[in-house]
Amino acid sequence: MSLERTADLWWKNAIIYCLDVETFYDSDGDGIGDFAGLTRCVDYLAGIGVNCIWLMPFYPSPNRDDGYDLTDHYAIDERLGTFGDFTEFMRTARDRGIRVIADLVVNHTSSDHPWFQSSRSDRNSRYRDYYVWRDEIPEDGPEGVVFPGEQEGVWTWDDAAGQYYHHRFMHHQPDLNVANAEVRDEIRKVIGFWLAQGLSGFRVDAVPFFLETEGIAEEMEIAPHDYFRNLCEFLTRRTGEAIMLGEVNVAPDQLAPFFGDEDGDELQMLFNFPGMQGLYLGLARKDAQPFVAALLSLPQAPPECQWASFVRNHDELTLDKLSDDERQEVFDAFGPEEDMQIYGRGLRRRLPPMLAGDSDRIRLVYSLMFAMPGTPTIFYGEEIGMGENLAVEGRRSVRTPMQWTDEPSAGFSTADPDQLRRPLPEGAYGPANVNVRAQRNDRDSLLTWFERVIRQRRQTPEIGWGEWKIVDTDARGLVVIRYDWQDRTLVTVHNLAAEAAKADLDVSDVEWTVARDLLGDTAIEPTGDGRLVIEVAGHGFHWLRLNKPGQRLTP
Ligand code: GLC
Repeated sequence: MSLERTADLWWKNAIIYCLDVETFYDSDGDGIGDFAGLTRCVDYLAGIGVNCIWLMPFYPSPNRDDGYDLTDHYAIDERLGTFGDFTEFMRTARDRGIRVIADLVVNHTSSDHPWFQSSRSDRNSRYRDYYVWRDEIPEDGPEGVVFPGEQEGVWTWDDAAGQYYHHRFMHHQPDLNVANAEVRDEIRKVIGFWLAQGLSGFRVDAVPFFLETEGIAEEMEIAPHDYFRNLCEFLTRRTGEAIMLGEVNVAPDQLAPFFGDEDGDELQMLFNFPGMQGLYLGLARKDAQPFVAALLSLPQAPPECQWASFVRNHDELTLDKLSDDERQEVFDAFGPEEDMQIYGRGLRRRLPPMLAGDSDRIRLVYSLMFAMPGTPTIFYGEEIGMGENLAVEGRRSVRTPMQWTDEPSAGFSTADPDQLRRPLPEGAYGPANVNVRAQRNDRDSLLTWFERVIRQRRQTPEIGWGEWKIVDTDARGLVVIRYDWQDRTLVTVHNLAAEAAKADLDVSDVEWTVARDLLGDTAIEPTGDGRLVIEVAGHGFHWLRLNKPGQRLTP
């Protein structure tokens, strides 16, 4: 891989930060975050080293699914500001070297969308076939609701239309009919529109459902993945640097087609859902094996593609790919109460409360997130160790306002706490105890630690670019990942167990003089036979760069 390409594929070594405008910073005191507020926070994000912001949906919406139910793909929710405010934000982000991507929600719309309203009320409407209508519920169609307990089925009768419509998600989120060429044109236009506003790509919502046609729609004249490939080509034709980061939570052996062919001509990035789920099982067991097994179950990402690493996102922490017993182990360890669980498959908590605030363990997990193969993706507030508010319904428990200060409204807004978009948590994870201002002035805070690790991650392109492999060890708790990139070799070691462990690693195929810890002051010389031996504290971690004879690396 040439150096020029390295420079171009920016996402391989990016730090992505996901936020929702309405819960980030409120500039006008109405209790709802807005673009003008977000613009004021861009320097904060630049300061911690973020170079890509992922905006959750900011489009007009009745907000029955927090914006993932939109009524206009070409506009901004007026509660969040004007288009002018959006453009100011985009300009400020770009000026500080931050790219912006946004959610692309094209599997469905809100049932309030004018397309759906027209579609249901008139069989001759040009929008009729924008959605999927059937006289009878087809027998060969997909089953399985996405939100068990909240959603009854995937077909709902509509009196006005006199037919059933298809919806993979809630009944108020009718699925768009991707078999209709006009819908496909419309989606292209949506992408083109936002690229023209300066976006560098999209986080694509619910990709497998979007491409699912079997038993739902009429024959599609183009195979879904061929269509998707065309769409991805269109994206980079319009904007060369643009990417699509896909939400694809399917079994590991079904992931590869979403990258496209072996050169990677579909999604540039996929979230590493298997790694995330394996990590929690490993943490619960204090055993590296489930996480290592999950990494090894991943298909090889094509050279110009990448995994996106995360430990927590805006949804429930889904454990759907674990067995029932395994899931129960994670529930027992991290969310034993029923109120902490959701849909029978996930947890509605953030990481620090799950780990009972154990700061060593919290850092271990985030170090591993930054060190695992892929591009790290931070969910806002993770950098200060925010907790959830279980009093907030459903998955939204983790989407409370950003905690900037110790004031009652967390410096998020000048409105009263009970006027905020969502109520803040109280107690140990409330703003009095967890906030940016206090942590910024504390050298030992999680925020200070995050800043340092992000800085180091950006200077460690081996992780984003290198070839990785698992190095065997006898110690049960240790995850050891080795990266080779150009003339560099990096070995990352993480101990999921509470007991200290000795890593005795065979790296004798490389000639090296000293291994330096990029996150600490450890420096280790090879044993006589070229092995790397290191004592790792319980929950300890090291990123060890092997210096080779004559090699000159920037510190
Ligand atoms: C994705 C989003 C989730 C949303 C769903 C329907 O899974 O992450 O928040 O509810 O799609 O759009």
